[in-house]
Amino acid sequence: MMMYVVMAGKEIKKGWKVNVDATCIHLDPALYKDPMQFNPSRFDEPQKPYSFIPYGSGPRTCLGINMANMTMLVFLHRLTSGYKWTVDDLDPRLETKTHLPKLRSGCPITLKALKDSGI
Ligand code: HEM
Repeated sequence: MMMYVVMAGKEIKKGWKVNVDATCIHLDPALYKDPMQFNPSRFDEPQKPYSFIPYGSGPRTCLGINMANMTMLVFLHRLTSGYKWTVDDLDPRLETKTHLPKLRSGCPITLKALKDSGI
């Protein structure tokens, strides 16, 4: 009886846990031109299968995709249209200790509610 499968030349043994590194896929220059560039328009084009997987993919895909997308849309809309933003530390340097690059400063900001925003 076979106790492993072979994927891309690698033996995956029975019982192993395999972690798919979604960030690595999302930042792969073979899939995304200038992956570190903020460019939401890149998603106007259809994506290659399995190249954008924040919600997983296949039969166990996240059941809350639509709810999560809608919640984020409302949250980001209110956050960006209802407040004046001040970035308290403009240091643009990135920290890459983990596989998720983030600003060294942690990007502290101050938000002040705008009077006419209805918030
Ligand atoms: C930004 C928000 C969310 C993200 C990034 C997210 C991401 C994920 C990911 C990566 C999985 C695993 C998919 C896989 O195994 O291939 C998952 C599963 C799941 N998510 Fe979400 N999720 C989010 C919000 C939600 C919400 C709001 C709900 C429900 C209201 C939800 C319900 C579920 C359920 C039930 C599963 C298990 C599906 C299954 O195993 O068949 N998620 N989610």
